[in-house]
Amino acid sequence: METDARLETSAVRSAGLSLLIVDDEITTRNLCNDVALETGLHVYASATTEQALEILDQYPVDIVITDLKVPQVGGLELIKRIRENNPQVAVIVLTQYGTIETAIEATRLGAADYITKPFHVEELRAKLDRLVHAIELDQENRLLRQQLRSRPGFGGLIGVSPKMQRVYKLIEKVAQHTYPVLILGESGTGKELVARSIHFSGPRSNKPFAPVDCSALVPTLIESELFGYVKGAFTGAQHSKQGLFEAAGEGTLFLDEIGDLPVDLQAKLLRALQEHEVKPVGSNERVGIRARVIAATNRDLEAAIRTGNFRQDLYFRLNVVQIKLPPLRDRRTDIPLLVNAFLEKFCDPAHPIHTISEDAMRRIMAYDWPGNIRELENAIERAVALGTGPILHVGDLPSSLQYASVEKLPENDELVPLEALERRAILRALRETAGDKMAAARLLGIGKTTLYRKLKQYESEPHDGSNGPFVRKATNGI
Ligand SMILES: Nc1ncnc2c1ncn2[C@@H]1O[C@H](COP(=O)(O)OP(=O)(O)OP(=O)(O)O)[C@@H](O)[C@H]1O
Ligand SMILES: [Mg+2]
Repeated sequence: METDARLETSAVRSAGLSLLIVDDEITTRNLCNDVALETGLHVYASATTEQALEILDQYPVDIVITDLKVPQVGGLELIKRIRENNPQVAVIVLTQYGTIETAIEATRLGAADYITKPFHVEELRAKLDRLVHAIELDQENRLLRQQLRSRPGFGGLIGVSPKMQRVYKLIEKVAQHTYPVLILGESGTGKELVARSIHFSGPRSNKPFAPVDCSALVPTLIESELFGYVKGAFTGAQHSKQGLFEAAGEGTLFLDEIGDLPVDLQAKLLRALQEHEVKPVGSNERVGIRARVIAATNRDLEAAIRTGNFRQDLYFRLNVVQIKLPPLRDRRTDIPLLVNAFLEKFCDPAHPIHTISEDAMRRIMAYDWPGNIRELENAIERAVALGTGPILHVGDLPSSLQYASVEKLPENDELVPLEALERRAILRALRETAGDKMAAARLLGIGKTTLYRKLKQYESEPHDGSNGPFVRKATNGI
């Protein structure tokens, strides 16, 4: 039994990760075995390097814990062979007290970490936990990227949160019609992307998509841009020019930043929409138009109506269907997907960045993203440009994130035991993700295994009075 490969099943095998212990001392093997089982790992054990290599050959192993003085080829040689044949396996070495040089040599050969014997179970547990998190995160990121590649999506829109699912449903519906759509949302939430998705997933996708930014042009130019002009209409008008309304044909005219359109032009736009005709600048003739109109703004149009800056009749005309895009901070579960998509997008093949550190992801998840997806996209682009290794670290992120507080303080600033804070965070994450443990773990920046362990722990613990109302409320949703 001592040298037999053992496959143990654990009560919390959520991670599905496997660990191989290589040590000729049965006490160490048993100790590692117990800790690994608690961490939710499958465990194999071996007393010799020869058998360890056999197990590595035949079974899917993710982590190896090996003593350096293990019979046959020895721990250092074992690490070398693992590096050559199973490079994805993470290795922790066990070293004797006073042999730090060999431990350093082992890390140079690629060991992820080392522990000096005799060690405390807590130390091993902490190191295993950290490693399991890192592996899970890496695997999850890979999975997300695969999903991303295979997901049909709506014109590059990323996100699977319930809020985005609602947006996709609306896009699908309105794409089949030609009535106006008004897209609202903070800056950088993807309004233009949604407008394009509506156009390109509808029956008129082969017709033009004509965007016009109502905030970027001076009023006289917007008018001639939208409605066109005739030769001699103003100084410099040497030829007649078709306006975008006409040029869009049976396609889509996208009126971006409609809230910035001057009031006198709002009247002309309303008329064009009502009569399906425009009058080019300097012309007495009216020209028929057939384009569908989609408008977008980050302004509060109802407030603008109250202050007289936006015409109510135009608002009613444009607001036939409204799509409101959620700010990124209200759909944080989509952040890992977006981060991965942007990592892929900006990846430089010469210096590929494979993943993002747990700490960096935690900061990204905790930050409020006032500039929404555009800000996140820029942050990742910059981090990829600055990053050096295969992992993106906190130091590569913009300073606004580096100093962002990861934990929010309790509202009344009460001092709460750390454990209670942790419990609150976990239960809240589960509430926000409607009980989806995988999404909750991602939201919290911890591994699934840890989340499962903590939940199990809560189940077996009596709830103390101070947490009572909170816990009762939260567990309803789990
Ligand atoms: N759901 C999404 N998935 C992937 N990328 C997105 C998503 N939403 C927005 N983006 C990206 O974020 C950036 C900003 O999007 P977009 O220009 O559509 O936002 P916007 O709401 O029009 O912003 P603004 O109000 O500042 O004009 C773009 O580069 C876009 O590709
Ligand atoms: Mg925009």
